[in-house]
Formats: sequence, C-alpha cells, structure tokens
Amino acid sequence: MSQPDIPVVDFADLHSPRADRQQRASEALNRGFGHFGLVFIRNHGIDAADLESFYDSFLEFTDRPQAEKEKVSMHEIWFQRGWTPPNTERAVVSGGQPDFKECYFAAPEPLDDTARLQYPQIYAENVWPDDAETFKERYLGIGHQLHEIGLSLLRGSARALGLEPYRFEASVWGGPHVTRSLRYLPLQDAQIDANVLWGEEHTDFNLLTLLPGGRFLAPEGGYTAKPDEVSGLYLRTRPTDEHPRGQMLQGKPPAGCIVAQVGQQLEILTGGTYLATPHVIKAPATPGFSRVSMAHFVHLHAQQLLFPLDRFQSPETVSAYSPPVLAGTYGTKTLVDIGLAPPEALSQLGYRHYDRLGGMRAEEDA
Ligand SMILES: [Fe+2]
Repeated sequence: MSQPDIPVVDFADLHSPRADRQQRASEALNRGFGHFGLVFIRNHGIDAADLESFYDSFLEFTDRPQAEKEKVSMHEIWFQRGWTPPNTERAVVSGGQPDFKECYFAAPEPLDDTARLQYPQIYAENVWPDDAETFKERYLGIGHQLHEIGLSLLRGSARALGLEPYRFEASVWGGPHVTRSLRYLPLQDAQIDANVLWGEEHTDFNLLTLLPGGRFLAPEGGYTAKPDEVSGLYLRTRPTDEHPRGQMLQGKPPAGCIVAQVGQQLEILTGGTYLATPHVIKAPATPGFSRVSMAHFVHLHAQQLLFPLDRFQSPETVSAYSPPVLAGTYGTKTLVDIGLAPPEALSQLGYRHYDRLGGMRAEEDA
C-alpha cells in the first residue's frame, strides 16, 4: 500500500509569528482534517523516553492480579475512571464484536464543579491503584501535555477556518477531557485468521483525539518493532466521486510525529467541513504480540450546544446535524450505545419525576 499523502502540521509553523508559516499550518490543518479527518504533528514536545516510561508503569499495573485491578474498576461511573476489563466496550456501527483490550481512564485537567453535579460519571474524580505514585505522576504529566497540544490545534483550526482564534478553545474549558491508556491483548493461534480486530471501525465521539503512539510487546515480553505490516491504525477518507465509500488507508505517522484525529463534536460544529475519522485498529497477523497505546480525548464542555456554528449553517447542514443537543447529553447517549453506560441512563435525559405526582395522587385516594 502506498503511503497516503496525509498532511504534517509542524508546530514550529503553527506557533510562528510569520504569516507564511501560519498559512502553511492552516493549509495542512484544513486539508488533513477536511479530507482525512487526521493530521500528523511534528515538533509537538512529547518526549519518546517519557512516553515509554509511562508505558512501563502502565504495564506494571496491567500485570497485577485481576482482583487488584477490579478494585479500581468503576462500573457505577460507567468505567469513566480507573480500569475497564477486556470485552466491555463495543463499536456502534460494526458487528458488535467486543474489543480485545483492557484500558485505564484518568482526567488530567481540572473539573468544573457545577458540571460534576450535573454529569457525575463523566466528571468523576480520578481513582488510582495502591502504590502507584509513579504511574499516576507519569499518567497526568503526559495527559496534560497532550491536552495542551490539543488546545494549540484548536486555536490553529479556528484560525484556519476563519473563526475567532479562541472559538473552540473557549468551549472546551472545564470539559470532561479524559486520557485513556490501552493494552491490546495478544491473539491466540486460532484467532489469527478469524478477522479479530483490536478496535472495530468507529468515529470518536469527542472533539479532538491525540494519539502519541503505542509500543508493541513481544510474546516473551519487552518492547519490539511492529511484527508485520498489517497491524496498526487505518482510517477511511471522505467519500469522493472516485471513491464513493472513501478509501481505507493506513495512518502510519512519519518518524517522530504524533497523530491528531477529528471527533464527532468537531465535525458537527463545522457542519462537516472537518470530518470525524472512521478508523479501525487491526491486530497483527502474528500470534502472541500485544500492544500498549494511549489516547487523549478533548471534549466540549458538557453544557456546550452541539450544532453547526453560524458560519457553517446551511439548509443541508442544519438538517443533517439536527436536533441540537448539549454535548453532555450527546455523550451520555453515546456511552449507552457503546455499552459502557446502562440503558437506564437515557431515562435521565427527559422528565422522570412522574412518581412524585403518582405519590400525591395515591395519598389523595387513600
Ligand atoms: Fe477511536
């Protein structure tokens, strides 16, 4: 497969005072987020050795006994913090195959106090395993760095789209941002030709996703090079006349670059000018290899309206992205769809105090 022409956004351009360099970054963002739903980022400031140290700490946690991990598995807050066991989450549009991964969720940014009362699950406090100070410190450190990269990209995107520079950034402050670390499980021999996926095709439901790059683990342990060319991230491009279903391409970043992906919220705000990237994680065609990776999800604040901004409203976009909903409502619906929240969570999205009237009427009858 030839390497697709996915744009690289150089942060030295994005942050430059020179108009020509800013223009170069804007063009890369508009083409990358508009056609591929994805860009590669150069000069992002994430140190590869720091990232690997974090993965060391994460693996120390995933290697702990099941009973210990279950102590930080938070079913009651829809797994939005702490450990998610394998086969818990499912993709919405694909065949419903559970994912072969275990995950950890933590929020690296300060949480909005009011939103904590309104959306207790997605705004939950972090939970940490016992004796895991280094894990926590490294986790929050990289999560915060990724968040800052996301904010820079949001400023750059607003500029590239001709919006006020802080248009997106102002709507994410205090949002339910979450950093997730993942360990994809090794495949057994019998699963190799069974079309098992590490992550089925989906689009992310947040605003912007940052992927600093994972590491493969050899069957005998220890980091290793990619075992074959099959495994990794694939993305589906925007449909064109030539490719009406889009094109499935491998999203392999150039050396030293990290990846940023458009989520559903950014697609909606821009009326589809930026595209939420459909993507899939293919497992290796070689048994025994596993992988660790990390993703930071930048979200709109839960009280933000999810609807095309004025500039992107046309009869087509208004009907395509209606009805308008709050980002927190949208998130709740999605967490039910992917199996993390229980279906009863949907009943909280409308009036549900019928029992109060029922109780008063019952007293009258008595
Ligand atoms: Fe994803």
